[in-house]
Amino acid sequence: MNNFSLAVVILAAGKGTRMNSVVPKVLHRILNQPIIKYVLNSAVALKPQRISVVLGHRSDLVKSELIKYKIDVAIQEQQMGTGHAVLCAKKTLRDFKGNILILSGDVPLIAARTLTEFCDHFYNTNSTISFITSKLDNPSGYGRILRRENNQILDIVEEKDARRDQKKIKEINAGIYLVESSFLWESLNNLNSDNRQNEYYLPGIIRYGIENGVNVSTYELKDHKETLGINTRKQLWELETIMKEKINSKHLENGVTIVDPSNTYISEDVIIGKDTVINPNTHIYGKTQIGENCTIGPSVYIEDSILGNEVVVKFSSYLTNCKIENRVTMGPFCHLRPEAHVKDNAKIGNFVEIKKSQIGIGSKVPHLSYVGDATVGNNVNIGAGTITCNYDGVNKHQTIIEDNVFIGSDTMLVAPIRIGKEATTAAGSTITKDVEQGALAIERSIQKEISGWSERKKKKKDNK
Ligand code: UD1
Ligand code: CA
Repeated sequence: MNNFSLAVVILAAGKGTRMNSVVPKVLHRILNQPIIKYVLNSAVALKPQRISVVLGHRSDLVKSELIKYKIDVAIQEQQMGTGHAVLCAKKTLRDFKGNILILSGDVPLIAARTLTEFCDHFYNTNSTISFITSKLDNPSGYGRILRRENNQILDIVEEKDARRDQKKIKEINAGIYLVESSFLWESLNNLNSDNRQNEYYLPGIIRYGIENGVNVSTYELKDHKETLGINTRKQLWELETIMKEKINSKHLENGVTIVDPSNTYISEDVIIGKDTVINPNTHIYGKTQIGENCTIGPSVYIEDSILGNEVVVKFSSYLTNCKIENRVTMGPFCHLRPEAHVKDNAKIGNFVEIKKSQIGIGSKVPHLSYVGDATVGNNVNIGAGTITCNYDGVNKHQTIIEDNVFIGSDTMLVAPIRIGKEATTAAGSTITKDVEQGALAIERSIQKEISGWSERKKKKKDNK
């Protein structure tokens, strides 16, 4: 990109009335990510000097979603239109001299690469103001581009202000502008709200530019998809479908089998290795990485997790923020919570929950167990129904199970506790004291037997 000084303003103060929601529009999600983050990620990729986000409706809620970004927040108390919104960002950019890229928080598919090309166009055409357009088969709802016969730009007319013949125009305003800063502030100060919505329309700066003889240019995108905005839930769904198709196609090309791409949800940053098979109704989000030759799903949810090669995650398993090494098999129905770390060749079976614990190489937790705040060594077998009792109501305590231990079914391990190498706990024991290496720990009452009991019970019943 041409090395000019750049600041970005993102408009996100609107309520999104047409969403019919109490949630601010820009926090509605596409593939589990708020739509404003798509716009912000594209902005960040341009490495601008500043990013200023204009918030208004439920600004605290939106702000709390954006804490990890280095941005300035400008507040637009009353939503008086897109032009007024940009003016609200002026305080945060007062000492900035350069070019200002204005993005709409509700136009999420715009790619960083496209924006870079747009900046190049702006530079090469020596523009003072430029904006992105595209041609849509169904342009309704968008501002339409009015041109002279010689194709010169004349104005932008909003849907609500458009005459019937103007509504037939297919070329639309994508709501993305690049403007030289001093001209931007000057033109904004000259906007009026003389329109059907009594709002200060940002597109008014185009008209102002033309009237004042500055160099106004348009940049038409052939791929209209990037210019689509979200005003309704139907558009949200349409854009998610577009995004999903784009991401899933990339993985298919890279050698991943996705059995039913229309029913598989993978977000932007996910990495998946060759010959991995993703079965239907699987959701893979966040910073997840999956290795080669894995089989995932059906109906599996994975977020912010790292999986090695040849991992099998069976039906209805739920994994967040965990690390799974090579050749591990998991599920069906297992729950791996944050900081679960499962090493090579281990097996996590059905109805098993693991939290903040390490499971060593080749160890097995095959059925109905809870393992929390534990370090489990290599080749350990944890019998069905075992629970690490890690919480005393106030504090969490650690369980350490050393290599080659055999934990009998239904053992309660009351932490803090350590089970030494090669030790065994007997089924049904509540273990409260450390067990030394190689020992058997048994904690049960002696079994009583009352002979003939069933027969006597039956007779009693017959006599009634
Ligand atoms: C706007 C454009 C339209 C364009 C379309 C592209 C105007 C007047 N119209 O229409 O030409 O085709 O985007 O998607 O600009 N916002 C504020 N404060 C406000 C009003 C809006 O921050 O007072 C924000 C919204 O949160 C949203 C963005 O600006 O992120 C666009 O606003 P919206 O009301 O959706 O404008 P459109 O009617 O879609
Ligand atoms: Ca919009």
